[in-house]
Amino acid sequence: MRELSVGLGERSYPILIQQGLLDDIGSRLHKNPFAKRYGIIADDHVASLFGERLLASLHSSDIQAEMITFARGEASKNLATVAELSSTLARMGFDRKDGLLALGGGVTGDITGFLAACYMRSIPFAQVPTTLLSQVDSSVGGKTGVDIPEGKNLVGAFYQPKAVFIDSQILRQLPQSELLNGLAEVIKYGVIYDRDFFKFLEMSRKDILALDLQVLEDVIARCCKIKAAIVEADEQESDLRRILNFGHTIGHAVEAASKYSLAHGAAVAMGMVAVSGLSVLKGILDPREKERIKNLINDFGLPVSIPQEYDRDIIKQYLLADKKTIGGRVFFVLPTKIGKVIITDEVEPQLIVKVLE
Ligand SMILES: NC(=O)c1ccc[n+]([C@@H]2O[C@H](COP(=O)([O-])OP(=O)(O)OC[C@H]3O[C@@H](n4cnc5c(N)ncnc54)[C@H](O)[C@@H]3O)[C@@H](O)[C@H]2O)c1
Repeated sequence: MRELSVGLGERSYPILIQQGLLDDIGSRLHKNPFAKRYGIIADDHVASLFGERLLASLHSSDIQAEMITFARGEASKNLATVAELSSTLARMGFDRKDGLLALGGGVTGDITGFLAACYMRSIPFAQVPTTLLSQVDSSVGGKTGVDIPEGKNLVGAFYQPKAVFIDSQILRQLPQSELLNGLAEVIKYGVIYDRDFFKFLEMSRKDILALDLQVLEDVIARCCKIKAAIVEADEQESDLRRILNFGHTIGHAVEAASKYSLAHGAAVAMGMVAVSGLSVLKGILDPREKERIKNLINDFGLPVSIPQEYDRDIIKQYLLADKKTIGGRVFFVLPTKIGKVIITDEVEPQLIVKVLE
């Protein structure tokens, strides 16, 4: 068992990482309850894979719990789903002494966290992330929310969970494409924060791709530790936390230009290589460092260049519309060496054009 902590004063919480933890959550909640009764929120696919196991774990510890599901996919991450789930909770008689468990990927975690922040003016919740992306990123830090037609994640709240329960074994069932989405975020941590971790990833690529659970746990724990440190320093993303957007500004624009046919991880991977290119063009990153970043991304089977068929003008338009644009300026997270980045809006438009080409 590895135990980390996110230190936020009285809102601090543990991150527990262990193979098979799913079956042990009941006994842990029995020892450290945060609610009288639990609503397990899961998408229908995750509910069919792991719902019974989590319910059985809680019931065997004499904990009252019910499963509540919604349709899988990003398309469900909206206010209508939050309204529907709220009505279900109300009809089932959930009150302020009760709590929620988010069993699933980032979509479930974001919806459930937001629902918990709003239902009866807030009830407690915990995260049980089941995708690599949610285990290394979205379940930690308390960013919750949903999409609206005008944009992704535009309605939400900062609302921290009571605990994060991570079972690495669960990743065995994850499709390769979902694993890659998480790996893009894993590589991100190495570039923005931890040169040694980047080296570790270079050396452990084969074990990670072979889903060696011991190595995967090391990876998850390192990522959670970095995310926790960043969140502790800047919970509400006023400054440091923005470094987590490395590769995402261009990534989101490429995703949009692909009409969302491109996987998020692939888009972020292209974005990370592109901004590393920007750093080289600006003369703040050694080209050999950029090659290392590009090679690692490539070695994990992620794409390193933006396909020609994606219209560069559309990418530029989306870049300007990105929500990280403040006062009409586009901010980029640029590496200055592996393990270190700066946030700047001082990027000449012609450099952006050049790097996109
Ligand atoms: N809150 C944050 O800080 C934060 C950070 C990054 C991303 N996000 C959000 O996370 C979302 C993406 O999360 P995601 O990639 O986990 O997507 P997801 O939750 O949609 O999960 C992806 C798919 O995998 C399936 N799945 C989940 N676990 C599985 C398992 N163990 N085995 C087999 N299938 C499984 C799901 O049913 C789903 O179809 C986006 O909405 C993004 O905005 C939030």
